Amino acid sequence: MGLTISYTAGQTPLDEDEKEGLLIETVSTKAELDEFEQLNIENAVQWTMGQQFGQQTLLTEMFIKNLHQKMFSDTWTWAGAFRKTNKNIGVDKHQIGIELKKLLDDGLFWIRNKTFVPDEIAIRFKHRIVSIHCFANGNGRHSRLLADVIAGHIFSLPVFSWGAATSPTDVRMRYLQALKAADLGQIQPLLLFARS
Ligand SMILES: Nc1ncnc2c1ncn2[C@@H]1O[C@H](COP(=O)(O)OP(=O)(O)O)[C@@H](O)[C@H]1O
Ligand SMILES: [Mg+2]
Repeated sequence: MGLTISYTAGQTPLDEDEKEGLLIETVSTKAELDEFEQLNIENAVQWTMGQQFGQQTLLTEMFIKNLHQKMFSDTWTWAGAFRKTNKNIGVDKHQIGIELKKLLDDGLFWIRNKTFVPDEIAIRFKHRIVSIHCFANGNGRHSRLLADVIAGHIFSLPVFSWGAATSPTDVRMRYLQALKAADLGQIQPLLLFARS
């Protein structure tokens, strides 16, 4: 079958069986795929804006999966399901559930104890979850929307701009540099990027 997808830096390649899960038969290029995904994601954003979620709802495996499902269910059969293969980013596929549970517990603890300022809680959560890499694809977008939902619903703050407020050139590169700094334990660059 003729679906060849090319990847930019920092993108997780799909396995053949994951490409199998593509729901739209007419998609033949990455650009078309992006467009379908984007529409689906916009609907998911609308869904989040029409609801009120507290920390008890948000910081659960069910919500994490449900949000991914809302974002990608028009595009991929495996939307909302943990990945079944290992990737170049992320924990071993068998550790996803347990690592996510630890993160959810940490997140609740940070919120209750005000361990960090609100932005930092959202951004630390975002970096931890994208590092776990729960899903076969869409982890970056899902983690950013989650940070937005944490900021908006838990802390009543505006959503993040993710580099869009400054020059659009090199946004992806600046984003990946900030993620790599966070990998080394420096969260500040990602915090600044998210509000730039
Ligand atoms: N070194 C890294 N540390 C943490 N996260 C990373 C790193 N490199 C890439 N990522 C994240 O992984 C994402 C790619 O995973 P993927 O599942 O393809 O998400 P998406 O399809 O939304 O881009 C990137 O968008 C980025 O958010
Ligand atoms: Mg991807």
